Amino acid sequence: MTALIDEAGPAVSVRGLRRDFVRGGGLLSTHATVRAVDGVSFDVSHGEVLGIVGESGSGKSTLARLITGLLRPTAGDVRIAGRSLAEADRRQRARLIQQVFQDPYSSLNPTQRVRDIVALPLVAQGDVPREERARRVSEMLALVGLDPAVGERYPGQMSGGQRQRVAIARALVLKPRIVVCDEPTSALDVSVQAQILNLLQALRRELNLTLVFISHNLAVVEHIATHVAVMYLGRIVEAAPTAELFGSPRHPYTAALLQSVLTPEPGKGIPRIPLGEGFPDPAAIPPGCRFHPRCPSALPACADASPPLRVDAGHLVECILAPETASREATSQVHAGLGP
Ligand SMILES: Nc1ncnc2c1ncn2[C@@H]1O[C@H](COP(=O)(O)OP(=O)(O)O)[C@@H](O)[C@H]1O
Ligand SMILES: [Mg+2]
Repeated sequence: MTALIDEAGPAVSVRGLRRDFVRGGGLLSTHATVRAVDGVSFDVSHGEVLGIVGESGSGKSTLARLITGLLRPTAGDVRIAGRSLAEADRRQRARLIQQVFQDPYSSLNPTQRVRDIVALPLVAQGDVPREERARRVSEMLALVGLDPAVGERYPGQMSGGQRQRVAIARALVLKPRIVVCDEPTSALDVSVQAQILNLLQALRRELNLTLVFISHNLAVVEHIATHVAVMYLGRIVEAAPTAELFGSPRHPYTAALLQSVLTPEPGKGIPRIPLGEGFPDPAAIPPGCRFHPRCPSALPACADASPPLRVDAGHLVECILAPETASREATSQVHAGLGP
């Protein structure tokens, strides 16, 4: 295998990422463009865990699929360890970055044995001999805490937690340095969620992984992430190191999210947010600041123009109310993204 990793630059670098979907357009409905991801830029350094939080429909899963190359962007660029995903072929991409999906019931082929599911990325590489594949599969099953004998089973014979361990083994079998986890515990029983989180945490340390960890559950993200980005209607409205974001949130949306989890209930995610109206429609994004119709601190100006991006020591906020900093410094830090 050729060396793919540029250790000097960021592990993940995303610039101006956008993804539109066309909704409707049947006989009785008209087309609507849904802008699921709308101008997202950030960097993740090697070894960091970037948590991405936001309500359902804010674009988290679309962003995950753009970062792993499962979905093509409408605009913008994703670089993994210095390589543009647009220029990498499927096999190279698979060695650079892998994904663990939300639902271990639908993400594993029910007609395949576990050993074949875990071996599939190795088979797709085309150059890994059979014995080597068998050895790697056993190694991976042991690594995720499963008896290698489960390789003979089918997913239907396993619990949700065991299936998610299989999905993690499959994601790691090519030894990628970067893994995107999209709500990896949300479909699991509460009692199993902590086990899977602890496993990811241990694997991250042992294998020196870089993670993009998506969740609507702030308590989970606070536990595992080194940095957090808050998504609202397709944009990252605030991002900062974890302790900074939880300790001094600057965006009114983040503050509301945090208020809503003062009494966290494991597995329940974000309860009703004290923001009045329901979640808005990404097919009809409000003008000005997209959060202004729900914002408890909105000023008249917030309805007129997009909010400025304000950056202060690695804390990014898209809000007119955030403290201003020198713009020259801000620009260079935006390009440095979330990195140190
Ligand atoms: N394949 C698709 N076709 C049409 N709309 C989609 C598609 N995937 C996602 N969307 C829309 O994009 C928006 C963001 O969805 P998603 O990325 O799944 O958000 P989240 O993971 O934060 O819940 C939603 O309005 C969703 O309906
Ligand atoms: Mg999702």
